[in-house]
Amino acid sequence: MEKILINDIQHNLKGELTVPGDKSISHRAIMLGSISHGITEIDNFLMGEDCIATINAFRKMGVEIKEQGSKVIVGGVGLHGLKEPSGIIDAKNSGTTTRLISGILAGQPFESTITGDDSLKKRPMKRVIDPLSKMGAKFLSIDEDYHIPFTISGGNLKGFSYETSVPSAQVKSAILLAGLYADCPTTVIEPSPSRDHSELMLEYFGALIKRHSPTEVSIKPNPRLMGQHIIVSGDISSAAYFMVAGLITEGSDILIKDVNINPTRSGIIRVIEAMDGNISLSDIRKVSNEDVADIHVAYSPNMHGTTISGDIIPTLIDEIPIIAVLSAFANGKTIVKDAAELKVKESNRIDTIVNGLTNMGANIKATNDGFVINGGDLLFGAKIETKKDHRIAMAFAVANLICKGSVILDDEECVNISFPGFFKTLESLI
Ligand code: S3P
Repeated sequence: MEKILINDIQHNLKGELTVPGDKSISHRAIMLGSISHGITEIDNFLMGEDCIATINAFRKMGVEIKEQGSKVIVGGVGLHGLKEPSGIIDAKNSGTTTRLISGILAGQPFESTITGDDSLKKRPMKRVIDPLSKMGAKFLSIDEDYHIPFTISGGNLKGFSYETSVPSAQVKSAILLAGLYADCPTTVIEPSPSRDHSELMLEYFGALIKRHSPTEVSIKPNPRLMGQHIIVSGDISSAAYFMVAGLITEGSDILIKDVNINPTRSGIIRVIEAMDGNISLSDIRKVSNEDVADIHVAYSPNMHGTTISGDIIPTLIDEIPIIAVLSAFANGKTIVKDAAELKVKESNRIDTIVNGLTNMGANIKATNDGFVINGGDLLFGAKIETKKDHRIAMAFAVANLICKGSVILDDEECVNISFPGFFKTLESLI
């Protein structure tokens, strides 16, 4: 449904907030809890549509999963206890569900079929199918390029060493999860470091992981994984909308509590510092093997452009839509490059970002692997084509705070994929 964002008052955002639990960690907690022995209790689980798709997938394989508000209790069945799914697994919009679960399904002695929504049907899956096939799993798809729906016949996997061509935590995680079921150790080597939540959580559940360097990790097969209590920290990808909202909106001062600041995820903080934004961290601590902090931001009228490229890109890939909004506000040129992966996210995010900001009057040009934006101009309200991409909808809802006129989102429900209650949280600060 279309949403017209109200924009007739002087916003200044003040107060304290928390954001929902991290999406990547929530998925992994269900997956590892399911294949462990005993109970896994997950607090602050993200009840977003993507993570619910993961819960439903494991329920189909005989895992008992109870929901009590934002707490989830998983009755682990052990590494070899999953049952042939009672029907087709529907990953909905979720690339993480599809790719990570493919790694687990590759190790099972049964057949399973995965499908999803129209956006997911277009996203590249060969990047997991190639390595998992090399390990011995068999994939069947009616589509030459092996998009979903596909059927996996698993079992009898061989451990191996694999070099990925793109830094992708989803690909790395799929291979590591398949490695749990292989006949000897499996190694993944990446071109640059991707988020390491799988490694941290696998270690936490008792898997035998060895990190040779930030880009090379090995796993030994057949560990006895034991259920754990996981407290899911706040998702920095969701906090990012409020970080930017606080930086660009006059008079703002916001404290976002309990946010995951894992260095493989928190590139946006380094970018904000490089652009001279007023941001600081406090109460830095470990929660369930992850780094967590409270993040303070305040209005920063003198921010300037920067170049974002190379190894930092995987650490902020999901934040690029909101970083684009920040760059439209900051004075001078911001260049985003080495980010061609944006084209294969929930939408082609180079197109959705550039089209949306162009419609709002920004000076932005798409490139092959990112965009160049000259910021500091006044933005105007416009109708935004979200392509049902949650991160595009939320980024442009924040752009609405500083434009003349109103942003109209062509779809508002898509925010439920990663941030149910987003608009309520935003309104609570105004
Ligand atoms: C994710 C990894 C990233 C990210 C996605 C979640 C994960 O994707 O964009 O939202 O949980 O592993 P890639 O692995 O494709 O870079």
